[in-house]
Amino acid sequence: GTRILTGITTTGTPHLGNYAGAIRPAVLASRAPDADSFYFLADYHALIKCDDAERIQRSRLEIAATWLACGLDAERVTFYRQSDIPEIPELTWLLTCVAGKGLLNRAHAYKASVDKNVEAGEDPDAGVTMGLFSYPVLMAADILMFNAHKVPVGRDQIQHVEMARDIGQRFNHLFGKGRELFTLPEAVVEESVATLPGLDGRKMSKSYDNTIPLFGSAKQLKDAIARIVTDSRLPGEPKDPDSAQLFTLYQAFATQEQSTRFRDELQQGLAWGEAKQQLFGLLDAQLGEGRERYAELLARPAELEDILQAGAAKARRIATPFLGELREAVGLRNFR
Ligand code: TYM
Repeated sequence: GTRILTGITTTGTPHLGNYAGAIRPAVLASRAPDADSFYFLADYHALIKCDDAERIQRSRLEIAATWLACGLDAERVTFYRQSDIPEIPELTWLLTCVAGKGLLNRAHAYKASVDKNVEAGEDPDAGVTMGLFSYPVLMAADILMFNAHKVPVGRDQIQHVEMARDIGQRFNHLFGKGRELFTLPEAVVEESVATLPGLDGRKMSKSYDNTIPLFGSAKQLKDAIARIVTDSRLPGEPKDPDSAQLFTLYQAFATQEQSTRFRDELQQGLAWGEAKQQLFGLLDAQLGEGRERYAELLARPAELEDILQAGAAKARRIATPFLGELREAVGLRNFR
């Protein structure tokens, strides 16, 4: 079958961007007859960005509940926490030893921190941890451990998947003896939602504080939508759907027909207030059911724990023997 793999960092409450960019396509893909899917909570990645232990713990629970509330069938896929798979940090080390520093110097997240420091006239690496610098190597280990073919992600993660490819290729070249030890992965990006905008029009992101929570209450959803920034065109004045994040958000959740009708209405002068009500109606109808299941799941953490433990055992049935092969390939075989 086709191996599909993706993860979400457990630093916050899942938002519409995570859903449209990763969760929705991943759940859909997992239902294809030949799909063999690996979905996980990237909680080691979370430690790179966050030193608030309570928040990480809470987010792990919320993101686990979110996947299941979105219809993921944990029996059909392999659903686990990264930190329950000790083979992953071990593989990270094997990969660290072949990953070029020059390659990692080019990683967007690291470069963004350096650029910010330089602009502020500070030491370029001020506040940069080795975790941040090595972030793409840990992510390469996530992907290569399970020989994923396809990695459904939003646009911001494409570079990381390409780095996983590079690192895997180098490892194959050095240790494969002509054999492909690692499958080289490919990012799968759904163009229409590759970068879902947030309330202010920038990419929806925890770090910009411009998110719409996926399973907040109806009131939270309404309040967030009220904060979507629009231009100052008055009711009756034609609006430009293509420059309005409100329309992009609507489109990401609507049928083709609904989008066309909404576009026409905006161009004919629909008031922004009305438009916000329509967006609320659309999202509330689509997320209502999931919201209820999400609340039920959050109330049963022991059950979630059982599901994740079973998932970890399933993942390790692949990871443990494969890591054994990799250890041998690099010269860490036992003496017997
Ligand atoms: P993270 O947790 O930042 O985001 C999870 C997924 O959501 C997507 N996403 C978006 N898509 C569209 N529009 C947006 N506004 C938006 N915001 C977020 C992200 O692209 C991502 O697909 N490093 C990863 C987690 C990770 C991972 C992996 C992913 C760790 N190991 C291995 C794939 C494979 C991250 O921090 O995603």
